[in-house]
Amino acid sequence: MAITVTPLRSSLGAEVSGIDLSQPLDAAAKASLSHALAEHLALVFHDQSLTPEQYLAAAEAFGPPMRQHYSQHNMPDYPDIGLVWHRNGQQPAERWHTDHTNREKPPAATILYGVEIPSHGGGTSVADMRSAYAALPEAERARLRGLRTVNMLDDHHKDVRPEDMEKFGKPIVHPMVRTHPVHGTPAVYFHITKTAHIEGMTPADSRAYLSDLLDRMIRPEIVYTHQWRRGDVLVIDDRATMHRAHGDYDRNESRILWRIIVEGDRPVLM
Ligand SMILES: [Fe+2]
Repeated sequence: MAITVTPLRSSLGAEVSGIDLSQPLDAAAKASLSHALAEHLALVFHDQSLTPEQYLAAAEAFGPPMRQHYSQHNMPDYPDIGLVWHRNGQQPAERWHTDHTNREKPPAATILYGVEIPSHGGGTSVADMRSAYAALPEAERARLRGLRTVNMLDDHHKDVRPEDMEKFGKPIVHPMVRTHPVHGTPAVYFHITKTAHIEGMTPADSRAYLSDLLDRMIRPEIVYTHQWRRGDVLVIDDRATMHRAHGDYDRNESRILWRIIVEGDRPVLM
């Protein structure tokens, strides 16, 4: 069966059909999925049924799985699968962000597999940060091209394991605009709560500016909101998007996503 890629929104998002991710993917299929991700920035696969091993093998189409830094949320026996599961005080990540910016080489993609889905709400939204960049006034684009963020683990997570703090707690500097390694387009790049500060600015001024930027940049026309069905796989290009969870669901219901992140390049502005 041929792989079919159908765009969902004019700005970003595409549904991929004709593929069973539980089966081994050949090199041509992996290349076409990786290309589709760079082009559409978010890919949706419906009706998948995956074991952890099959899911990890499918993720390889987008890059080698990499370790996640809040290991207390990892699936037992599968350290490259994180459980997104809002219990024991965990809250949905409702602010716009891109993942793991405190890494020297942050992930190229975040992959989510819907295992338990609430009956209403609990979607995941993805915003196209290439379009967000292009829509800013030139003076502000020029300003952003000169700014760099200093990234740390989130200071509001109080249950970080000492070994994760040791491995992943060091400050990492990234450009606020990065060039996509596949197609070379620029996108705004930052994680508001992992940015300790912007170089040359105080933490308070940095947070205020990033918050204001998000309010101005993220408009409905650049957002795709995924309403989960059990068995969906959503792949997000972390090099040119931001995403957020929606906490608008009944917490008596379960929402469990398996998360894999895959290795990317060090962000650069060319
Ligand atoms: Fe995230």
